[in-house]
Amino acid sequence: MRGLFITFEGNDGSGKSSVIEAIKEELVKKGYDVVYSREPGGSKIAEKIRDVILDIDNLGMDPKTESLLYAASRREHLMKTIVPALNDGKVILCDRFLDSSLAYQGFARGIGIDEVYQMNTFATEGIMPDLTLLVCVKPEVGLKRIKDNHRGTLDRLEVEKLAFHEKVYEGYLKVQAKFSDRIVIINGEASKEQVKHDALEVVMNFIKEHKI
Ligand code: TYD
Repeated sequence: MRGLFITFEGNDGSGKSSVIEAIKEELVKKGYDVVYSREPGGSKIAEKIRDVILDIDNLGMDPKTESLLYAASRREHLMKTIVPALNDGKVILCDRFLDSSLAYQGFARGIGIDEVYQMNTFATEGIMPDLTLLVCVKPEVGLKRIKDNHRGTLDRLEVEKLAFHEKVYEGYLKVQAKFSDRIVIINGEASKEQVKHDALEVVMNFIKEHKI
């Protein structure tokens, strides 16, 4: 595969969406062929699985069921969107990927980071991002941002209590420590401009180092 696979992770309210937009704009300006995608979702069937996972009616879903649905959605997304784009030499910017499952289902839901990783290898066949940016904000900051900015109704995971958000945050730090060669932390509590600047610097340095 000849393309570049970059993923963006962060606890809810981290502001990673604006970071992705800024990076996309800059890479397009520089002439890269960029594809944006997201999880859960990113292809037709994966988007249908997303609707089931995030449906507010499905509160109380068994954590392993939840984990398997994310992995099923990931498999579809990989086969239909990511792998074809990488084979075409494109740069994929993906909003969430496997590390979300490790932090949310593996650590916060208590299944175990290694267990969820193992289960996902069936879906991914070892395909991992080349680079991951983890945009971090303290859970109480993220939750406050969600509440302040929310226009519509909150989805099933956003209504979870602060304790869950704290676990997700802690989980992400553990996942980062496990894959520290691939995952770079960006301080999401800095000013918007600073966050974008820091993220762009990481991506451009990576591209330069790997002569892409
Ligand atoms: P989404 O509305 O896409 O949230 P965000 O804008 O924060 O990315 O909803 C995705 C939710 O699903 C989010 O709360 C994180 C969660 N999630 C998992 O729990 N496991 C996963 O593997 C993925 C991809 C997402």
